[in-house]
Parts: sequence; structure tokens; C-alpha cells
Amino acid sequence: MINRQDQELNNEEGFREIEITVFKYNPQDKASKPEYQTYKLVETPGMTLYIALIKIWSTMDHHLSFDFVCRAGICGSCSMVVNGKPRLACKTRTNEFEDGKITLLPLPTFKHIKDLSVDTGNWMNAMSVKVESWIHTKEKTDVAAIEKPVEPDVAQAVFDLDRCIECGICLAACSTKIMREDFVGAVGLNRTARFAIDPHDERTDEEFYELIGDDNGVFGCMSLMGCEDHCPKDLPLQTKIAYMRRKMVKV
Ligand code: SF4
Ligand code: FES
Repeated sequence: MINRQDQELNNEEGFREIEITVFKYNPQDKASKPEYQTYKLVETPGMTLYIALIKIWSTMDHHLSFDFVCRAGICGSCSMVVNGKPRLACKTRTNEFEDGKITLLPLPTFKHIKDLSVDTGNWMNAMSVKVESWIHTKEKTDVAAIEKPVEPDVAQAVFDLDRCIECGICLAACSTKIMREDFVGAVGLNRTARFAIDPHDERTDEEFYELIGDDNGVFGCMSLMGCEDHCPKDLPLQTKIAYMRRKMVKV
């Protein structure tokens, strides 16, 4: 499919033409069959996959489904598999692909909604409940009281792990998650490490063990590094999984 306007722009400006092949399927529609559809468009300077998809959607295929919110690598909505690797569409430039051929698939391991759209939200919510992703303290909260001081390096370590945007890319890149449905993945283990480091959380290692001390938790990780290699926020996932594993082994 070639958009006529694009064809003219191509001729006038000399920009290259790229081909984006997209997996299309609607599991809600009984008549729908999984298929690939290829769209040809003109690559403009600085084009990201997000911009390319918007262009396809607005000029060629208004039925194409994909997710996005922020366009800035913050919301974690636009993750998809790009030429075999899970990535954020809004942070991936089309000019990275020398031959101009890009294939897009929905993120595996999550519920498929339609085309490139998957439901990461419900999974993330269930994971948060499973690892009890909140501060556990017996202290009564007094909003008028001055906050307890925290050592700057500890605050920095907590902040570093809090940068997770729940994009699901670490799960899509994880062999354990593909084999083991209930594995909490690097995102869940990172979350437990975040609270284990935080001095506001009074949980003991034994209490963390109850949450992640099995093969669906910290002992399921095979250290294949797929999570850390693909995490768009460069979180120190393997270091923190090892940190939690050392703690859990001692229990
Ligand atoms: S740990 Fe990284 S890859 Fe995993 S959900 Fe968080 S930001 Fe995404
Ligand atoms: S649209 Fe928010 S991370 Fe890509």
C-alpha cells in the first residue's frame, strides 16, 4: 500500500521509502485471521516508529491498533517487537534500519488485544498485588510530621529502581516468563528490591521470602540477561535480582 501524497514527497525531496510490515489480528473477531500487512511510506528526518505508525494510521489504515500515551519513553505503553527485539516504538528511529524494512509484532506473554496492542496494565496490577508493592510499616502516617531523613545514596538507589515505566519489555525478553506463566519477572523482582532497600519499609527477609522465594520469584531467574539487555530505562536488573537472591538464600 503506498500513500499518494507520500509518493509525491518521495519524488520531490529525495527521502527514502521504507516498508513497515505489521502483524494484524483481532482475537475478538471470529472472522479475523492472523496476517501480515506491509505499508510503504516516506521516511522523514527524525522519524520514530511511533510517528511512522501514526502516519500509517492517519493516511492508510484507520483500523490499525497500537498503544501510546506520552511519545517520550515515560508511559511504557508503546512497547512492541521490532525486527525480533522488544522495544519502545516512540524511542526507536526508523533510520536505525539500514535496509528500511521493519517488522512489528505485539509483545508476547501479555494478553493480545488487537494488532500491536496488548494488555500490560492488568498483568502489572496483579504483579503489584502479588509482591505487595507498597511500604509496610507499623508506624502511623502523620502527614504534618517532618519526613525521616534518608541517606542520599540510599535515596538514590531507591529512585534508580523507581524509574521503571512498566513497559513489559523485560518480560517479553525473558525465557523464564515465556515458559512459566506466573513468573513475576525482572519488573516484579526489581519492585521487591526497591522496597527491601527503602528504610521506610519494615519487612524482614523472611517476609520477602514468602512473596518471591520460589521458582515464580527469584529462583526462577536463569540469569540469561534478556531483561537488562533490553530494558529501555537501563535499570540494573540483574544486580538487583542477585541482591534479592542472596538475601533469600540466607532465609
Ligand atoms: S524493568 Fe525495565 S524493561 Fe522491565 S518493565 Fe521496568 S522499565 Fe520496562
Ligand atoms: S508512548 Fe509512552 S513510552 Fe512510548
